[in-house]
Amino acid sequence: MQQFEWGEKYSVDIPQIDAQHRQIIDLLDELWRCAHGPEEEKLAPAALARVIRYAQSHLQREELMLRIRGYPDYAEHKTEHDAYRRKVAYLKAHSDRKDLVIRIANFLRDWWKYHILTSDQKYARFFRSNPENR
Ligand SMILES: [Fe+2]
Ligand SMILES: [Fe+2]
Repeated sequence: MQQFEWGEKYSVDIPQIDAQHRQIIDLLDELWRCAHGPEEEKLAPAALARVIRYAQSHLQREELMLRIRGYPDYAEHKTEHDAYRRKVAYLKAHSDRKDLVIRIANFLRDWWKYHILTSDQKYARFFRSNPENR
């Protein structure tokens, strides 16, 4: 069972960003399978580290892309990314080991689903209607 699947509604029409979002969704799926599988304690921490590391690099690359293209709501978008960074750091520091992986996995799935569908779609709409910024 896949818990978060790529679909056209997630596309921002920027191929390298779509590829990064797909990779995040794939890594979240892998994390979900590790966290619910028989070797959870062995496999899940590494799967969690992979998705967190990749997602952090995506946020940086997306911020750079938004700055280069002159996205007018950059500051607001960056604030959302920063709140995510703080929340992930908090969850890593405050969860006890047993429920750490499931709690963070659930948070990550919900956050990425919502963020790509709302805030990332907001810049996608801007770039579609302002092709000179593309
Ligand atoms: Fe974003
Ligand atoms: Fe994004």
